[in-house]
Amino acid sequence: MKTVHTITELRSLLAAERANGKRIGLVPTMGNLHDGHLSLVHQAAESCDIIVATIFVNPLQFGAGEDLERYPRTLAQDQQKLVEAGCHYLFAPSDQEMYPNGRDNQTEVIVPKISLLHCGASRPGHFEGVATVVSKLFGIVQPDVAVFGEKDFQQLQVIRQLTADLYLPVEVQGAPIARDSRGLALSSRNGYLTPEELDIAPALNTALRDTRAAIQAGRRDFRTLEEEAQQALERAGFQRDFFNIVRQNDLLAADENDSQLVILAAGHLGRARLIDNIVVEL
Ligand code: PAF
Repeated sequence: MKTVHTITELRSLLAAERANGKRIGLVPTMGNLHDGHLSLVHQAAESCDIIVATIFVNPLQFGAGEDLERYPRTLAQDQQKLVEAGCHYLFAPSDQEMYPNGRDNQTEVIVPKISLLHCGASRPGHFEGVATVVSKLFGIVQPDVAVFGEKDFQQLQVIRQLTADLYLPVEVQGAPIARDSRGLALSSRNGYLTPEELDIAPALNTALRDTRAAIQAGRRDFRTLEEEAQQALERAGFQRDFFNIVRQNDLLAADENDSQLVILAAGHLGRARLIDNIVVEL
């Protein structure tokens, strides 16, 4: 695997691959890789010849007071894992390489409406930062396929919409959530948890599964179910963010007539903000 830090070098390497008829798969990440990320690499390899992973802790998607500075940066370990996963190129640019004119002069990509809901409401500006950096990565790499984890269900919707709206010739794929043996969704932010908090954290997935079971058993009082789940999470030790039963297509609050649902959840546990979701098909 070759690690590349500049756009110019990456583009010339990938132009040669493309000229040889290779299909290029992109796996954008912020590093501190876990098995969930590596499953994205494996999925990309199913339909592509050349896999490009990117590691860039994107300052544009962090709000004031969030964890930009303390976000774990573990390049050497990440490189080793990517080699073992069969990745061909790692693109690890600096902030200066990605935003040479500074963030205030950067063209921004704004996906309306869904960017303001849920995680976008809790983290103003977050999805503008994600949409902007992903658009830039698509322009730099020009992949045939790009793979993103379904843990960030809303992020995946935002990326699918920008790709469709801008007619970007990229096939966006979601990859199933990777979990530990107790159901906790794998996340770089799990590293912020103490051993005691790690025992509590699977409660987020438990609340999602319990709520899905209640819906499948016939309950349709969604707002009450949401409140019950929030209270269960608080009893477990979480601080509230959101727990929303929504429609898969537009992520707006679901009602009893909807059948394609997803439950989106976020909560604070110690120094970590954890997210998870579960799809419910009725
Ligand atoms: O999901 C992430 O790790 C990031 O939001 C992404 C897609 C790499 C953009 O910075």
